[in-house]
Amino acid sequence: MSPAAGDRIDPAAVPERSLSTGAVMPGIGLGTFGSDHIPHGQVANAVDAAIEIGYRHFDCASVYDNEALIGEVFTKNIGQTVERNQLWISSKVWNDSHRAVESACERSLADLGIDVLDMYLVHWPFPNFHPPHCSVDERNPDAVPYRHEDFMETWTQMEALVSRGLVRHIGTSNMTVAKLDLVLADASIRPSVNQMELHPHLQQTELRTYLRENNIEAIGFCPIGSPHRPERDRTPDDTSPVDDPVLQQIAASHGVHPATLCVKWAVQSGHTPIPFSTNPRNIRANLEATVSAPLADDEMEAITAADRNCRMIKGQVFLWNEGQKWQDLWDEDGTIAM
Ligand SMILES: NC(=O)c1ccc[n+]([C@@H]2O[C@H](COP(=O)([O-])OP(=O)(O)OC[C@H]3O[C@@H](n4cnc5c(N)ncnc54)[C@H](OP(=O)(O)O)[C@@H]3O)[C@@H](O)[C@H]2O)c1
Repeated sequence: MSPAAGDRIDPAAVPERSLSTGAVMPGIGLGTFGSDHIPHGQVANAVDAAIEIGYRHFDCASVYDNEALIGEVFTKNIGQTVERNQLWISSKVWNDSHRAVESACERSLADLGIDVLDMYLVHWPFPNFHPPHCSVDERNPDAVPYRHEDFMETWTQMEALVSRGLVRHIGTSNMTVAKLDLVLADASIRPSVNQMELHPHLQQTELRTYLRENNIEAIGFCPIGSPHRPERDRTPDDTSPVDDPVLQQIAASHGVHPATLCVKWAVQSGHTPIPFSTNPRNIRANLEATVSAPLADDEMEAITAADRNCRMIKGQVFLWNEGQKWQDLWDEDGTIAM
């Protein structure tokens, strides 16, 4: 599993993003969600390999249920192979802890073996949650729509974490323009980032433009289109960026896998992808994509034109009414569904 010395990429060469606070975040992170089927120890080994290869940004979450094993990897490396201030470690409060954000954060800190998180996100804007490994039809009987006053109560607890010095930055995840409009109007500390699904088949141009105009960094999850996502996140209409002939042709001309091209497109488009992999060769290829020669303008344009508006993580399990469609979670007509 251990990568060879020649496999290392200089972290100083990897693009960085400046946040509204002035802090600098590495412009690619390693995802750590094992899609319900990769053993936690294998994900932790991937984090270990990624540190050695040159990654400095890690996207964690309590619901991934692997923070304690990943924490052992951080503890092993910090002060030995890397200094704490060279790492950017993110975690997320899960939907069942919107009324207990501080204790959830303290648990993640303890599990990850660190005193302060660089970034803490509200994983979803609803308190609706589901058991691990659930099916697409699973519904939480207590599920509710987005209620702004409830979200702000959670956000106020997030802000308190910054005041207490437990986290350096706070952010949102799975938000829409309609919801962010409300949050930006009422927040004392504005989100530094919004984590969102972003890949060549779901480019979310409107939301990305909105984030740019509001000085919020876009962090792109499922940057490869999550080819091994759980069954509950699949429908027969789904497309796949790695199987797109346009991407395959451009990737072939560069001698790389289309997955790597997706990562390269993300970084060159100006957002921060967090690809997941447990394969050191792929982990390295994705990091190398951030430092290799840029794509030509016509290649970038061809990938932009390949957008299919295909959302992979639809979130059906978070719906609150019988007969709803997953589109109701995403405010596609600009209004928040109730
Ligand atoms: N905020 C949220 O609600 C949310 C939701 C979903 C995901 N996330 C975050 O986003 C991260 C990434 O999303 P994801 O894991 O669903 O999907 P992804 O990064 O789009 O795809 C990961 C898959 O692509 C394969 N892959 C990676 N690099 C490759 C390469 N160079 N060549 C060929 N195959 C490659 C991996 O297989 P191998 O292991 O074989 O390389 C892995 O199965 C998650 O781990 C998590 O941290 C956040």
